[in-house]
Amino acid sequence: MIPGRVRIAIAIDGPASSGKGTVARFVAARLGYSYVDTGALYRGVGLALMRAGMDPTDAEAATEMASKLAFRFEWREGSLRVAVNGVDESEAIRGEAVGRAASAVAVHPGVRSALLQTQRDLGARGGVVMDGRDIGTVVLPNAQLKVYLDASLDERARRRHAEAPGVALEEVRRQLAARDQQDSGRATAPLKLAEDAEYVDTTGRSVEEVVQQVIALARERGA
Ligand code: DC
Repeated sequence: MIPGRVRIAIAIDGPASSGKGTVARFVAARLGYSYVDTGALYRGVGLALMRAGMDPTDAEAATEMASKLAFRFEWREGSLRVAVNGVDESEAIRGEAVGRAASAVAVHPGVRSALLQTQRDLGARGGVVMDGRDIGTVVLPNAQLKVYLDASLDERARRRHAEAPGVALEEVRRQLAARDQQDSGRATAPLKLAEDAEYVDTTGRSVEEVVQQVIALARERGA
């Protein structure tokens, strides 16, 4: 660590495809911090329910599943690996259907509280960039830097479509709007701008520009 600098906690929240994951990963790498993708936890619960043939909208089943799973994050050859109950599920959790199941399980208060301590433990020592929907508002309310990353629905749909061109742009846009509605409209820990968060609109901007802006904000806070 450079003398005089502190290892702060950085919370990055925002809607699906706002660029959170990419920005968070680069910021963490440049600061020498760890990166925690909290969406992976909700995806892990969604995937486990799908495999068990259970319904992600069933609050009781989802809460029981969330409290049974143990997660481990690990860096290997420059990429973040996620193990669920000891099995590497880094690729399996990325699918579109798993994302939808994750958004459905994330509505249940029991699931959110089962995953809360794991997230707080991962952020407790500082030197961390954590991304999700409620990191600045609920998980790490004392984070020294909170960033809310946003982009227009059209731009987010274009980005997602470019990554998975198999689905028509209009359909990708419709799915994203539904996900926004579910993530922002739920009663418990909805996606919203924390009072003390920096709002960063990434529409029409490069990843590098946004990464530099977030690093500058982190430096202002002693990182
Ligand atoms: O960021 P993501 O697309 O991997 O997240 C998948 C779903 O998990 C998202 O639609 C809502 C939920 N989620 C959440 O509710 N809270 C978080 N901190 C992270 C993700």
